Amino acid sequence: SVNLKGRSLLTLLDFSPEEIRYLLDISKQVKMESRSRLRTERFKGMTLAMIFEKRSTRTRLAFETAFAEEGGHAIFLSPNDIHLGTKESLEDTARVLGRMVDAIMFRGYKQETVEKLAEYSGVPVYNGLTDEFHPTQALADLMTIEENFGRLKGVKVVFMGDTRNNVATSLMIACAKMGMNFVACGPEELKPRPDIFERCQEIARETSASVSFTSNLEEALAGADVIYTDVWASMGEEDKEKERMALLKPYQVNERVMEMTGKSETIFMHCLPAVKGQEVTYEVIEGKQSRVWDEAENRKHTIKAVMIATLL
Ligand code: CP
Ligand code: NVA
Repeated sequence: SVNLKGRSLLTLLDFSPEEIRYLLDISKQVKMESRSRLRTERFKGMTLAMIFEKRSTRTRLAFETAFAEEGGHAIFLSPNDIHLGTKESLEDTARVLGRMVDAIMFRGYKQETVEKLAEYSGVPVYNGLTDEFHPTQALADLMTIEENFGRLKGVKVVFMGDTRNNVATSLMIACAKMGMNFVACGPEELKPRPDIFERCQEIARETSASVSFTSNLEEALAGADVIYTDVWASMGEEDKEKERMALLKPYQVNERVMEMTGKSETIFMHCLPAVKGQEVTYEVIEGKQSRVWDEAENRKHTIKAVMIATLL
């Protein structure tokens, strides 16, 4: 009964647990197809505009290869190539794109930009990361967690470090929606945004999930199934790097932290790119518990699933 045709993915807050389940089921199916080199040309004759204000390896490659594998044509556009709020308003650019392409992906700074693109283009728009959210990353994270534990419900996920950033925020939303136990562990100064945090706690009440914040490592890590971290200074925050190093040092994921869960089956995750030796040690990210390469691969399958669900 789930139908996502024509929908945009701007934040997972807009998606119900059933809709997320549906996307994960398609992801599983397309991963099997992709691994067996099956080509179905689902997007034959279709075009996807991809606008990047910020750099990307995984997200660009995931969208571009997923779309091309299915016979579609993806167009990479940097702000140096198109008029984006310079000479032409964002609204006008969106309307023109909507007349020409089947879908738009946007990676950049403001959430408002991706929202306006959706409002004015009239075609599905995918948020490929903004300052606030990274919803396609969270879908890949859910897929990776489910592959490991065979379930999502009740799995305990601890995000260590800058718990206010885009990746942490989207992971918190995803965990709340899917009935998981999410703990944000970091300094008070980088707590999750109160409005989104409260909303996730409300969602959690309906899904039997839990969402909490603590600065205390022992409290956060006990019984954790997943330890997740991300860079200490995100794209656009390069000037804050020094200040963040001091603030976040106690939250580095190292072997001691991995042991503090009390479980040998705990896995380590990171959206990548990682600064080895900073937010995570070399030993942990290269170690047996790390799932970062599966997680990166799953970006492609989950993104393909989102496009299948919204375009076909
Ligand atoms: N995880 C992620 O979004 O990676 P990129 O910045 O390389 O796209
Ligand atoms: N939080 C990071 C994620 C990169 C994929 C950033 O925004 O730079």
